[in-house]
Amino acid sequence: MIDADFRSLLPPTATATADGITIGGVPLVAVAERFGTPSYVIDEQSLREQIGSFRDALARRWGAGRVHFASKAFPTTAMYRVMAEEGIGVDVAGGGELHLALRAGVRPDVILLHGNAKTDEEISLALEAGVGLVVIDNFDDIDRLERLAPGRQSVLVRVRPDVVAPTHEAMATGHASSKFGLSIPDARRAIERITRSRHLGLEGLHVHIGSQISELAPFTHAVEALADLGEFDTYDLGGGLAARYTYGDHAPSPDEWVETLTEAARRVLPAHARILLEPGRSVVARAGVTLYRVVTVKHGEPTFVAVDGGMGDNLDVSLYGQRFESAVVTRPSGGGPVDLVGRHCESGDRLVEGARLNDPRPGDLIVVAVTGAYCVTMANNYNGARRPPVVFVRDGVATLRQRRETYEDLASRDV
Ligand SMILES: Cc1ncc(COP(=O)(O)O)c(C=O)c1O
Repeated sequence: MIDADFRSLLPPTATATADGITIGGVPLVAVAERFGTPSYVIDEQSLREQIGSFRDALARRWGAGRVHFASKAFPTTAMYRVMAEEGIGVDVAGGGELHLALRAGVRPDVILLHGNAKTDEEISLALEAGVGLVVIDNFDDIDRLERLAPGRQSVLVRVRPDVVAPTHEAMATGHASSKFGLSIPDARRAIERITRSRHLGLEGLHVHIGSQISELAPFTHAVEALADLGEFDTYDLGGGLAARYTYGDHAPSPDEWVETLTEAARRVLPAHARILLEPGRSVVARAGVTLYRVVTVKHGEPTFVAVDGGMGDNLDVSLYGQRFESAVVTRPSGGGPVDLVGRHCESGDRLVEGARLNDPRPGDLIVVAVTGAYCVTMANNYNGARRPPVVFVRDGVATLRQRRETYEDLASRDV
């Protein structure tokens, strides 16, 4: 049996079988046996259903619109392919994500380029590829585009709305002192400049106030802040909707979020305008789990359960103090509390403090839930860790989408 509160954090296809927790019809013990640990597992059906929730929520409420996946939340070829197949766009923040998106077959016209420090090289790549929109973050972006654009490039101006998002300070991007976007007066100047430009076509405005935001009012304020800047054809209202990581968390649904944004848009933006959305975290977070093998259990106050991964594959805990929940895959009910920790040489390398783990022993398989967003993104080689594989599960089949790094990979860039 899986405790109901833990089940509510797993991908919706999760079931309890004689083998323990099964996701997408594949027992997690079978995934671990075949691909090793640590491993990232993505439930493809849950992922596609969540994409559909955003797409449908917008289509029901706004005639002209498109969802763009904020691909920084999971920038791998397989994920870009899913987005292309689901018919949504992607936003990329730089040349690397752009390269992967194009390689995966995402249509350039549904790619949107972000960045607060886009280089000549990145802008040239985007122009050569023919990306649909470039988001102007600063006046140097305008200079660069005018110098590099061979023809005409459609752009949005990113506005800093002076809205403080209730989230970790490193994830807030809409407040007055944020490094992102232009203040309202500067946005006005940028709009005037672009309107006179021969190379730039001003499509509209962009706003994004941060990530992991579970209150809806700040989103309304951000949309309202755009109203005084004039009437445009396109408004990109960003991403930022929170995911539920813990038993105590609340996160609005995609429907509630889209309703909030479109309600504000109906009041203050032109009815003919196209609305773009850029959710990342809330699209992929719950579709993903990470599997670890227990290496050692050190009994005491607290008891430490140390696994074969940690901050090399999940930087969220040490970077943002993010809390996760976990279970023993074959005994997913009750237990704890113990401290689930990683194998890296830092005391900050904890995965779940006070984890409810039922009688954890060396060799047990542990699942940490809601690791689908930003964990793959920020995976690293700390202590020579090899970045884990990405495995998609669906209809009883597990497919390797990105292999585990090898020790030789660690030396592969040496010259
Ligand atoms: C410009 C932009 N759009 C969208 C997102 C996606 O945010 P989230 O993953 O919280 O939905 C981000 C990330 O913070 C971003 O910087």
